[in-house]
Amino acid sequence: MKDTYGRTIDYMRISITDRCNLRCRYCMPDGVELVPMSDILTFEEIIRIAAAAAKAGIRKFKVTGGEPLVRLGCPELVGELKQITGVEQVTLTTNGVLLSKYLEPLAAAGLDGVNISLDTLNRRTYERITGRDELNQVLKSIDLTVEKGIPVKLNCVLQRGLNAHEWEELIRFTRERPIDVRFIELMPIGYGREFEAVYNEELLEKLQALCPDLEPDERVHGNGPAIYYRLPGAKGSIGFISAMHGKFCAHCNRLRLTSRGMLKPCLCYEDSVDVGGIIRQNGPGRDEINRQIQEAIRQAVALKPECHSFEALDGVTERKRMIEIGG
Ligand code: 5AD
Ligand code: SF4
Repeated sequence: MKDTYGRTIDYMRISITDRCNLRCRYCMPDGVELVPMSDILTFEEIIRIAAAAAKAGIRKFKVTGGEPLVRLGCPELVGELKQITGVEQVTLTTNGVLLSKYLEPLAAAGLDGVNISLDTLNRRTYERITGRDELNQVLKSIDLTVEKGIPVKLNCVLQRGLNAHEWEELIRFTRERPIDVRFIELMPIGYGREFEAVYNEELLEKLQALCPDLEPDERVHGNGPAIYYRLPGAKGSIGFISAMHGKFCAHCNRLRLTSRGMLKPCLCYEDSVDVGGIIRQNGPGRDEINRQIQEAIRQAVALKPECHSFEALDGVTERKRMIEIGG
Protein backbone atom coordinates (compact mmCIF):
# COMPACT_ATOMS: atom_id res chain seq x y z
CA MET A 1 0.00 0.00 0.00
CA LYS A 2 1.18 3.52 -0.83
CA ASP A 3 0.22 6.43 1.38
CA THR A 4 -0.43 10.06 0.40
CA TYR A 5 3.30 10.82 0.50
CA GLY A 6 4.34 7.89 -1.68
CA ARG A 7 5.62 5.74 1.19
CA THR A 8 5.09 1.98 1.02
CA ILE A 9 3.22 0.76 4.10
CA ASP A 10 3.98 -2.92 4.62
CA TYR A 11 4.59 -3.23 8.37
CA MET A 12 2.14 -3.45 11.26
CA ARG A 13 2.83 -3.46 14.97
CA ILE A 14 0.19 -5.37 16.91
CA SER A 15 -0.19 -4.76 20.64
CA ILE A 16 -1.77 -7.91 22.09
CA THR A 17 -2.12 -6.72 25.69
CA ASP A 18 -1.62 -3.65 27.84
CA ARG A 19 -0.61 -5.84 30.81
CA CYS A 20 3.02 -6.07 31.84
CA ASN A 21 5.11 -7.87 34.45
CA LEU A 22 7.39 -4.83 34.92
CA ARG A 23 6.54 -1.29 36.03
CA CYS A 24 8.92 0.89 34.01
CA ARG A 25 8.57 4.38 35.31
CA TYR A 26 8.33 6.02 31.88
CA CYS A 27 5.84 3.50 30.59
CA MET A 28 3.64 1.85 33.21
CA PRO A 29 4.21 3.02 36.78
CA ASP A 30 2.45 1.21 39.63
CA GLY A 31 -1.26 1.78 39.92
CA VAL A 32 -2.05 2.67 36.30
CA GLU A 33 -5.51 1.94 35.02
CA LEU A 34 -5.78 -1.06 32.70
CA VAL A 35 -7.93 -1.64 29.64
CA PRO A 36 -10.92 -3.85 30.63
CA MET A 37 -10.25 -7.43 29.46
CA SER A 38 -13.50 -7.45 27.48
CA ASP A 39 -12.22 -4.54 25.35
CA ILE A 40 -9.01 -6.32 24.38
CA LEU A 41 -9.10 -8.03 21.01
CA THR A 42 -9.27 -11.83 21.09
CA PHE A 43 -6.60 -13.76 19.18
CA GLU A 44 -9.25 -14.72 16.66
CA GLU A 45 -10.04 -11.04 16.06
CA ILE A 46 -6.34 -10.17 15.81
CA ILE A 47 -5.76 -12.89 13.21
CA ARG A 48 -8.75 -11.72 11.22
CA ILE A 49 -7.45 -8.15 11.15
CA ALA A 50 -3.93 -9.38 10.33
CA ALA A 51 -5.24 -11.48 7.45
CA ALA A 52 -7.10 -8.47 6.05
CA ALA A 53 -3.94 -6.38 6.50
CA ALA A 54 -1.86 -8.98 4.65
CA LYS A 55 -4.39 -8.89 1.80
CA ALA A 56 -4.01 -5.12 1.70
CA GLY A 57 -0.22 -5.41 1.46
CA ILE A 58 1.21 -5.73 5.00
CA ARG A 59 4.19 -8.12 4.87
CA LYS A 60 5.68 -7.87 8.35
CA PHE A 61 4.17 -7.97 11.79
CA LYS A 62 5.67 -7.04 15.13
CA VAL A 63 3.90 -8.43 18.21
CA THR A 64 4.15 -6.02 21.15
CA GLY A 65 2.39 -5.18 24.44
CA GLY A 66 2.46 -4.10 27.26
CA GLU A 67 4.48 -7.27 27.55
CA PRO A 68 3.23 -9.71 24.91
CA LEU A 69 4.51 -12.81 26.73
CA VAL A 70 2.23 -12.25 29.74
CA ARG A 71 -0.69 -13.11 27.48
CA LEU A 72 -1.13 -16.88 27.31
CA GLY A 73 -0.84 -18.32 23.83
CA CYS A 74 1.56 -15.71 22.45
CA PRO A 75 3.76 -18.33 20.69
CA GLU A 76 0.67 -19.85 19.07
CA LEU A 77 -0.38 -16.40 17.86
CA VAL A 78 3.08 -15.91 16.32
CA GLY A 79 2.67 -19.28 14.57
CA GLU A 80 -0.73 -18.27 13.19
CA LEU A 81 0.53 -14.91 11.97
CA LYS A 82 3.38 -16.71 10.19
CA GLN A 83 0.86 -18.91 8.38
CA ILE A 84 -1.04 -16.01 6.81
CA THR A 85 -0.51 -15.85 3.07
CA GLY A 86 1.83 -13.06 2.07
CA VAL A 87 3.43 -12.65 5.51
CA GLU A 88 7.22 -12.58 5.30
CA GLN A 89 8.28 -11.81 8.83
CA VAL A 90 6.93 -11.93 12.37
CA THR A 91 8.99 -10.48 15.21
CA LEU A 92 8.42 -9.75 18.90
CA THR A 93 9.20 -6.88 21.25
CA THR A 94 9.57 -8.06 24.84
CA ASN A 95 11.15 -7.05 28.13
CA GLY A 96 12.80 -10.48 28.11
CA VAL A 97 11.67 -11.63 31.57
CA LEU A 98 9.57 -14.53 30.25
CA LEU A 99 11.46 -15.03 27.00
CA SER A 100 13.60 -17.97 28.11
CA LYS A 101 10.45 -19.74 29.28
CA TYR A 102 8.73 -19.42 25.88
CA LEU A 103 11.79 -19.60 23.64
CA GLU A 104 11.23 -23.16 22.43
CA PRO A 105 7.63 -22.67 21.26
CA LEU A 106 8.46 -19.25 19.80
CA ALA A 107 11.34 -20.72 17.79
CA ALA A 108 9.13 -23.61 16.68
CA ALA A 109 6.47 -21.09 15.59
CA GLY A 110 9.06 -19.53 13.28
CA LEU A 111 9.71 -16.25 15.08
CA ASP A 112 12.07 -14.17 12.92
CA GLY A 113 13.58 -11.87 15.52
CA VAL A 114 13.26 -10.36 18.99
CA ASN A 115 13.68 -6.84 20.32
CA ILE A 116 14.51 -6.94 24.01
CA SER A 117 14.16 -3.84 26.17
CA LEU A 118 17.19 -3.33 28.38
CA ASP A 119 18.14 0.10 29.71
CA THR A 120 20.84 -0.83 32.20
CA LEU A 121 23.27 -3.55 33.26
CA ASN A 122 23.21 -2.50 36.88
CA ARG A 123 20.88 -4.55 39.04
CA ARG A 124 19.91 -1.67 41.34
CA THR A 125 19.30 0.72 38.45
CA TYR A 126 17.25 -1.97 36.71
CA GLU A 127 15.07 -2.19 39.78
CA ARG A 128 14.76 1.59 39.97
CA ILE A 129 13.63 1.82 36.35
CA THR A 130 11.41 -1.26 36.15
CA GLY A 131 10.32 -1.72 39.76
CA ARG A 132 11.41 -5.38 39.67
CA ASP A 133 14.60 -7.36 40.31
CA GLU A 134 14.67 -9.24 37.00
CA LEU A 135 17.94 -8.20 35.37
CA ASN A 136 19.52 -11.65 35.59
CA GLN A 137 16.50 -13.27 34.03
CA VAL A 138 16.67 -10.85 31.07
CA LEU A 139 20.40 -11.46 30.59
CA LYS A 140 19.75 -15.20 30.56
CA SER A 141 17.04 -14.75 27.92
CA ILE A 142 19.41 -12.72 25.74
CA ASP A 143 22.05 -15.48 25.86
CA LEU A 144 19.59 -18.26 25.13
CA THR A 145 17.94 -16.40 22.25
CA VAL A 146 21.29 -15.74 20.58
CA GLU A 147 22.22 -19.42 21.08
CA LYS A 148 18.98 -20.41 19.36
CA GLY A 149 20.05 -18.37 16.35
CA ILE A 150 17.16 -15.90 16.60
CA PRO A 151 18.33 -12.34 15.74
CA VAL A 152 18.35 -10.09 18.83
CA LYS A 153 18.17 -6.33 19.05
CA LEU A 154 18.37 -4.51 22.36
CA ASN A 155 16.24 -1.40 22.89
CA CYS A 156 17.85 1.03 25.33
CA VAL A 157 16.16 4.17 26.58
CA LEU A 158 18.54 6.50 28.41
CA GLN A 159 17.28 8.92 31.04
CA ARG A 160 19.29 11.84 32.27
CA GLY A 161 20.39 11.52 35.88
CA LEU A 162 19.75 7.79 35.98
CA ASN A 163 21.32 5.56 33.32
CA ALA A 164 22.64 8.20 30.88
CA HIS A 165 26.23 7.00 31.30
CA GLU A 166 25.46 3.34 30.69
CA TRP A 167 25.75 3.46 26.90
CA GLU A 168 29.44 2.62 27.21
CA GLU A 169 28.61 -0.67 28.93
CA LEU A 170 25.62 -1.45 26.73
CA ILE A 171 27.51 -1.16 23.41
CA ARG A 172 29.84 -3.95 24.56
CA PHE A 173 27.09 -6.40 23.58
CA THR A 174 27.88 -5.66 19.94
CA ARG A 175 31.56 -6.60 20.20
CA GLU A 176 31.42 -10.29 20.87
CA ARG A 177 27.99 -11.28 19.67
CA PRO A 178 25.71 -10.54 16.72
CA ILE A 179 23.45 -8.33 18.82
CA ASP A 180 22.36 -4.87 17.69
CA VAL A 181 22.11 -2.30 20.47
CA ARG A 182 19.74 0.57 19.69
CA PHE A 183 19.35 3.79 21.62
CA ILE A 184 15.77 5.08 21.52
CA GLU A 185 15.23 8.68 22.53
CA LEU A 186 12.64 8.92 25.28
CA MET A 187 9.47 10.26 23.68
CA PRO A 188 6.97 12.61 25.38
CA ILE A 189 4.22 10.00 25.18
CA GLY A 190 2.32 9.04 28.33
CA TYR A 191 4.57 8.96 31.39
CA GLY A 192 7.59 9.58 29.14
CA ARG A 193 6.71 13.26 29.49
CA GLU A 194 7.84 13.22 33.11
CA PHE A 195 11.49 12.29 32.52
CA GLU A 196 14.39 13.86 30.73
CA ALA A 197 15.65 12.27 27.53
CA VAL A 198 19.26 11.91 26.46
CA TYR A 199 19.51 13.04 22.85
CA ASN A 200 21.18 10.77 20.36
CA GLU A 201 23.08 13.60 18.72
CA GLU A 202 24.97 14.14 21.96
CA LEU A 203 25.40 10.39 22.43
CA LEU A 204 26.81 9.92 18.93
CA GLU A 205 29.32 12.72 19.53
CA LYS A 206 30.52 11.00 22.70
CA LEU A 207 30.69 7.65 20.95
CA GLN A 208 32.70 9.09 18.05
CA ALA A 209 35.08 10.74 20.50
CA LEU A 210 35.59 7.43 22.28
CA CYS A 211 35.84 5.36 19.09
CA PRO A 212 37.14 7.53 16.22
CA ASP A 213 37.15 4.47 13.97
CA LEU A 214 33.39 4.00 14.26
CA GLU A 215 32.03 2.95 10.86
CA PRO A 216 28.62 3.85 9.44
CA ASP A 217 26.74 0.63 8.78
CA GLU A 218 24.65 0.97 5.65
CA ARG A 219 23.06 -2.47 5.71
CA VAL A 220 19.32 -2.45 6.19
CA HIS A 221 18.49 -3.71 9.67
CA GLY A 222 14.87 -4.65 10.06
CA ASN A 223 12.01 -2.26 9.45
CA GLY A 224 12.86 0.47 11.84
CA PRO A 225 13.90 4.07 11.69
CA ALA A 226 17.34 3.36 13.20
CA ILE A 227 20.62 4.64 11.77
CA TYR A 228 23.43 2.19 12.41
CA TYR A 229 27.16 2.30 13.13
CA ARG A 230 29.63 -0.44 13.89
CA LEU A 231 32.76 -0.72 16.02
CA PRO A 232 35.59 -2.14 13.91
CA GLY A 233 35.52 -5.92 14.05
CA ALA A 234 32.28 -5.98 16.07
CA LYS A 235 29.65 -8.60 15.35
CA GLY A 236 26.65 -6.38 16.04
CA SER A 237 25.76 -2.78 15.27
CA ILE A 238 24.92 0.28 17.31
CA GLY A 239 21.65 1.90 16.27
CA PHE A 240 20.16 5.30 16.96
CA ILE A 241 16.43 5.80 16.92
CA SER A 242 16.20 9.54 17.19
CA ALA A 243 12.53 9.83 17.85
CA MET A 244 12.76 13.44 18.89
CA HIS A 245 15.00 15.06 16.31
CA GLY A 246 15.76 12.51 13.66
CA LYS A 247 13.29 12.99 10.86
CA PHE A 248 12.95 9.39 9.80
CA CYS A 249 9.33 9.85 8.80
CA ALA A 250 10.18 10.01 5.08
CA HIS A 251 10.84 6.26 5.31
CA CYS A 252 7.91 5.40 7.57
CA ASN A 253 6.39 2.04 6.64
CA ARG A 254 4.06 1.29 9.54
CA LEU A 255 0.64 1.12 11.12
CA ARG A 256 -0.08 0.28 14.75
CA LEU A 257 -2.94 -1.78 16.09
CA THR A 258 -3.66 -1.16 19.78
CA SER A 259 -4.85 -3.87 22.14
CA ARG A 260 -8.36 -2.37 21.91
CA GLY A 261 -8.34 -2.54 18.14
CA MET A 262 -7.62 1.07 17.25
CA LEU A 263 -5.53 1.36 14.12
CA LYS A 264 -3.06 4.21 14.47
CA PRO A 265 -1.46 5.90 11.47
CA CYS A 266 1.24 7.61 13.57
CA LEU A 267 2.58 7.34 17.12
CA CYS A 268 2.52 11.09 17.63
CA TYR A 269 -1.14 11.86 17.03
CA GLU A 270 -4.44 10.71 18.45
CA ASP A 271 -6.04 9.98 15.05
CA SER A 272 -7.10 6.37 14.72
CA VAL A 273 -9.58 4.10 13.00
CA ASP A 274 -11.70 1.82 15.19
CA VAL A 275 -11.27 -1.64 13.66
CA GLY A 276 -12.24 -3.28 16.96
CA GLY A 277 -15.66 -1.61 16.65
CA ILE A 278 -16.05 -2.86 13.07
CA ILE A 279 -15.21 -6.46 13.94
CA ARG A 280 -17.64 -6.51 16.88
CA GLN A 281 -20.72 -5.26 14.98
CA ASN A 282 -23.75 -7.50 15.20
CA GLY A 283 -25.60 -6.78 11.97
CA PRO A 284 -23.38 -7.41 8.93
CA GLY A 285 -22.19 -10.83 7.78
CA ARG A 286 -18.62 -12.08 7.88
CA ASP A 287 -17.70 -11.06 4.34
CA GLU A 288 -19.10 -7.57 4.76
CA ILE A 289 -17.16 -7.12 8.01
CA ASN A 290 -13.97 -8.33 6.35
CA ARG A 291 -14.57 -5.81 3.57
CA GLN A 292 -15.02 -3.05 6.14
CA ILE A 293 -11.81 -4.06 7.94
CA GLN A 294 -9.86 -3.76 4.70
CA GLU A 295 -11.48 -0.41 4.04
CA ALA A 296 -10.48 0.73 7.56
CA ILE A 297 -6.88 -0.32 6.93
CA ARG A 298 -6.80 1.72 3.72
CA GLN A 299 -8.34 4.65 5.59
CA ALA A 300 -5.64 4.46 8.29
CA VAL A 301 -2.96 4.48 5.58
CA ALA A 302 -4.63 7.48 3.92
CA LEU A 303 -4.58 9.29 7.28
CA LYS A 304 -0.83 8.89 7.75
CA PRO A 305 0.72 12.31 8.34
CA GLU A 306 3.86 13.42 6.59
CA CYS A 307 5.80 13.50 9.85
CA HIS A 308 5.62 13.61 13.62
CA SER A 309 6.06 16.70 15.80
CA PHE A 310 7.67 15.19 18.89
CA GLU A 311 10.08 18.12 19.05
CA ALA A 312 7.19 20.50 19.91
CA LEU A 313 5.16 19.24 22.87
CA ASP A 314 1.99 21.04 21.74
CA GLY A 315 2.05 19.14 18.48
CA VAL A 316 1.81 15.76 20.21
CA THR A 317 -1.92 15.04 20.37
CA GLU A 318 -1.68 11.38 21.42
CA ARG A 319 -2.96 11.03 24.98
CA LYS A 320 -2.91 7.25 25.22
CA ARG A 321 -0.18 5.59 27.22
CA MET A 322 2.60 3.50 25.70
CA ILE A 323 1.21 0.29 27.23
CA GLU A 324 -1.89 0.71 25.09
CA ILE A 325 -0.04 1.50 21.88
CA GLY A 326 2.87 -0.90 22.14
CA GLY A 327 5.73 1.45 21.28
N1 5AD B 1 9.83 6.82 24.70
C1 5AD B 1 10.68 5.96 24.06
N2 5AD B 1 10.62 4.65 24.17
C2 5AD B 1 9.69 4.14 24.97
N3 5AD B 1 9.38 2.86 25.27
C3 5AD B 1 8.33 2.86 26.10
N4 5AD B 1 7.94 4.11 26.37
C4 5AD B 1 8.77 4.94 25.68
C5 5AD B 1 8.86 6.33 25.51
N5 5AD B 1 8.04 7.20 26.11
C6 5AD B 1 10.16 1.76 24.73
C7 5AD B 1 10.48 0.66 25.70
C8 5AD B 1 10.58 -0.55 24.80
C9 5AD B 1 9.88 -0.15 23.53
C10 5AD B 1 8.77 -1.05 23.17
O1 5AD B 1 9.39 1.15 23.72
O2 5AD B 1 11.69 0.88 26.38
O3 5AD B 1 11.90 -0.89 24.52
FE1 SF4 C 1 5.82 7.20 10.96
FE2 SF4 C 1 4.67 8.85 12.65
FE3 SF4 C 1 6.71 7.27 13.40
FE4 SF4 C 1 7.07 9.38 11.75
S1 SF4 C 1 6.46 9.39 13.88
S2 SF4 C 1 7.96 7.36 11.59
S3 SF4 C 1 5.18 9.29 10.54
S4 SF4 C 1 4.70 6.63 12.75
